[in-house]
Amino acid sequence: MVRKLVVSFLFLAILGAFGACNAGELQRNYYRKSCRGVEQIVRDITWRNVSANPSLAPKLLRLHYHDCFVRGCDGSVLLDSTPNNPSEKEAIPNRSLSGFDFIDFVKSILEEECPGAVSCADILALGARDAVSYQFQRPMWQVFTGRQDGRVSVDSEALAGLPSPSSDFPTLLQNFQSNNLDVVDLVTLSGAHTIGVTHCSLVAKRLYNFTGKGDTDPSLDSEYAQTLKTICPLPIVRTTTLGMDPGSSDSFDSHYFVALSQNMTLFQSDSALLTNPLSSTIASHLQNPRLFFALFARSMAKMGAIGVLTNGEGEIRQNCRVVNA
Ligand code: HEM
Ligand SMILES: *[C@@H]1O[C@H](CO)[C@@H](O)[C@H](O)[C@H]1NC(C)=O
Ligand SMILES: *[C@@H]1O[C@H](CO)[C@@H](O)[C@H](O)[C@H]1NC(C)=O
Ligand SMILES: *[C@@H]1O[C@H](CO)[C@@H](O)[C@H](O)[C@H]1NC(C)=O
Ligand SMILES: *[C@@H]1O[C@H](CO)[C@@H](O)[C@H](O)[C@H]1NC(C)=O
Repeated sequence: MVRKLVVSFLFLAILGAFGACNAGELQRNYYRKSCRGVEQIVRDITWRNVSANPSLAPKLLRLHYHDCFVRGCDGSVLLDSTPNNPSEKEAIPNRSLSGFDFIDFVKSILEEECPGAVSCADILALGARDAVSYQFQRPMWQVFTGRQDGRVSVDSEALAGLPSPSSDFPTLLQNFQSNNLDVVDLVTLSGAHTIGVTHCSLVAKRLYNFTGKGDTDPSLDSEYAQTLKTICPLPIVRTTTLGMDPGSSDSFDSHYFVALSQNMTLFQSDSALLTNPLSSTIASHLQNPRLFFALFARSMAKMGAIGVLTNGEGEIRQNCRVVNA
């Protein structure tokens, strides 16, 4: 066990996975002067809400990812559409995004505490971290702050920027690389699918009509495919949900990588991680929880720095759903 861990660390050190991480213009505790208590306030609210409603954790984590992958982590995913501009929320990959009310709730409290100080993008970055961390009662990764909010949100960019769940490995890697993330980040961040749910409608093709001949995706474990068919019987009910990580989808852990090694993940984009020798090797090492947590912290810091607006490049939105007048 210890030996295996050492081998894992060595392997990933060779890949450079423990190199210095560049957070760019973001800073540790950026609000120490302008809103001293912000990190504690966000944590307290988030923990209270997550304890009442655990599904908030995957929702906020996914919302932060969608924010960062489209125009950078600038709160653009939070903007509502306007009559002339359908925002990112309208895009197909927005399916079932939620957590917006929670962000509004935190924002309203922070506006009382320190008006005009804290960006919506930072609230989302902190909230996602705190929501996942509730289970552990300690921060699972460090969030640097100082993000400002953007003024633009375009539905077509969300469709173009986010990979689809039927993506193959080259498509996924290219998408991540275009965000300055590498193969270690791709595999590690896919581990976010260890919590949360999806919908039968997104898995139906793999189960019932993979190549258009009424067949099942052969890369899915056949017994598991049978189980999924009982959860998602025909005709598919669009609103039926299913846990992403079988038996463990409430717990943030490395079980996703165990499920992956058993061909028991839900999307082709998950299974695709096994189709490349390097990513497959990384995935097998990440079954180790300590290694997964360490690398997840590192990859989240990288993801949280994608395309950030700082130092007056953006604004501090008054209302997370609309740009300032
Ligand atoms: C690698 C490419 C990725 C693809 C193709 C992908 C795709 C998806 C899809 C299709 C869903 C289900 C949506 C639904 O049923 O409505 C989902 C859920 C989710 N994704 Fe991803 N995702 C990817 C990467 C990520 C990353 C990088 C993160 C976070 C770091 C993430 C976090 C989540 C979470 C937490 C959920 C569950 C949401 C909930 O329970 O409400 N995903 N993803
Ligand atoms: C997602 O987009 C659809 C239209 O494509 C829209 O009806 C729905 O309200 C959007 N979801 C959110 C959370 O805005
Ligand atoms: C969050 O918690 C507060 C206080 O308990 C509650 O009023 C609010 O409705 C919750 N919001 C969400 C979105 O769960
Ligand atoms: C399966 O896919 C084929 C080809 O896309 C399509 O013609 C057929 O109607 C589909 N069958 C079902 C049951 O959806
Ligand atoms: C997973 O599927 C691949 C083929 O897609 C197969 O070679 C492998 O043995 C399967 N693994 C398990 C644990 O069933």
